[in-house]
Formats: sequence, C-alpha cells, structure tokens
Amino acid sequence: MGSYLRGPLAKLCDEFVSTDIAPAPAKLAENETYVQADLTNLDAMVDLLKGADMVIHFGAIGDEAPFEDLWGPNFVGAYNIWEAAHRNNLRRVVYASSIHAVGMHPKTEFIGIDAPHRPDTFYGLAKCFAEDLASLYWDKRGIEAVCLRILSCAEVTNPRAVGSWLSLR
Ligand SMILES: NC(=O)c1ccc[n+]([C@@H]2O[C@H](COP(=O)([O-])OP(=O)(O)OC[C@H]3O[C@@H](n4cnc5c(N)ncnc54)[C@H](O)[C@@H]3O)[C@@H](O)[C@H]2O)c1
Repeated sequence: MGSYLRGPLAKLCDEFVSTDIAPAPAKLAENETYVQADLTNLDAMVDLLKGADMVIHFGAIGDEAPFEDLWGPNFVGAYNIWEAAHRNNLRRVVYASSIHAVGMHPKTEFIGIDAPHRPDTFYGLAKCFAEDLASLYWDKRGIEAVCLRILSCAEVTNPRAVGSWLSLR
C-alpha cells in the first residue's frame, strides 16, 4: 500500500520522504527523497522525521507471525514512530491499523469505531498497542492521530472478500 500511495501523497506535499527497510524504488517523484531505514532503530526514525509536519506509518509485518517476529517492527516500530514524531514536534500521525484489533467481536454483532479492543492474533494485539500509543501521545503530547482500521486491501478472490474490500484508490 505504501508503494501505491507514494505517488498520490507526494502530490499533496512540498517535500515527501518515503522509507522502508527495502532498497529504494526504481523511480521517485520530483519532490520525493528515499531513505532506507529500519523502523526498530529509534535514532534513525528521529533523523528521518526532522522538519516533517506529519508521518504516514504503514511499515510493519503485515500479517500474523510469531510474537518474537512482530515485537520489533510492529510494537517497537510503532513506539519509535510516535516518539520520533513527538521529539520533532510533528502535528499528526496517520496509522494503518486493522480490523484484527477488534477481530474477536462476534460476526453477528454490529460494532462501531468505539468498540473495545478485542484482538484476534498477536498481529491484532500490535494494532491495539499502536492505537493506544496514538491515544497516549494525543492525551500527553498533543499529537493528532488517525488510525485507519483497514479491513482488506488485497486482490479480491471470492464473493465474501468484497464485503471487507478497500480499493487502493
Ligand atoms: N493490506 C491489507 O489488507 C491490510 C489490512 C489492514 C492493515 N494493513 C496494514 O497496512 C500496512 C501496510 O500493509 P501492506 O499490505 O502494504 O503490507 P506490506 O508487507 O506490503 O508492506 C509493509 C512494508 O513494511 C516494511 N517493513 C517491515 N519491517 C520493517 C522494518 N523493520 N523497518 C522498515 N520497514 C519495514 C516492509 O519491507 C514492507 O515494504 C501494515 O501496517 C499492515 O499491517 C494492511
């Protein structure tokens, strides 16, 4: 999703910095710079966010995995983003959360955005942790946050998946 969003987001910015642990993409927008960095490195994240107004945080292991694997990118990585945002006086963090943060609510119940956290996996637990970071850094540090509980942004392979589908666009 980050790869797709780079183009449209760069158009909304004076300066756009994209980052991933992976090497740079082949083509960058005119106002885009790329920094290869590891989310688990707080100093690197603090450097990266210098002078920024906001950060869009989509980096993570994107599915269920052993807790030990998720700990760095998904838990510590999220902390590093909010802490680096605070140290650089950013206004806002936009975060890719997931329906897995509330996945154990029964399917027969209609739930709103105020449903209590009820994670269905360690992956979902990391999303709850990041959403709570958003709450803490808003209450204590005044950093705005938008946590998007994306249901499914992936190729639709069966009729049921249409109900949870979010198009890239
Ligand atoms: N695609 C979906 O349907 C969906 C649904 C809900 C939430 N999300 C969330 O949206 C975000 C993006 O998902 P995606 O589907 O594009 O996944 P993806 O795996 O394509 O992208 C995640 C990116 O994070 C990078 N990354 C992983 N560890 C890193 C580290 N230590 N340092 C720096 N970068 C690192 C990976 O290299 C990868 O490019 C994730 O946070 C995911 O949990 C996705």
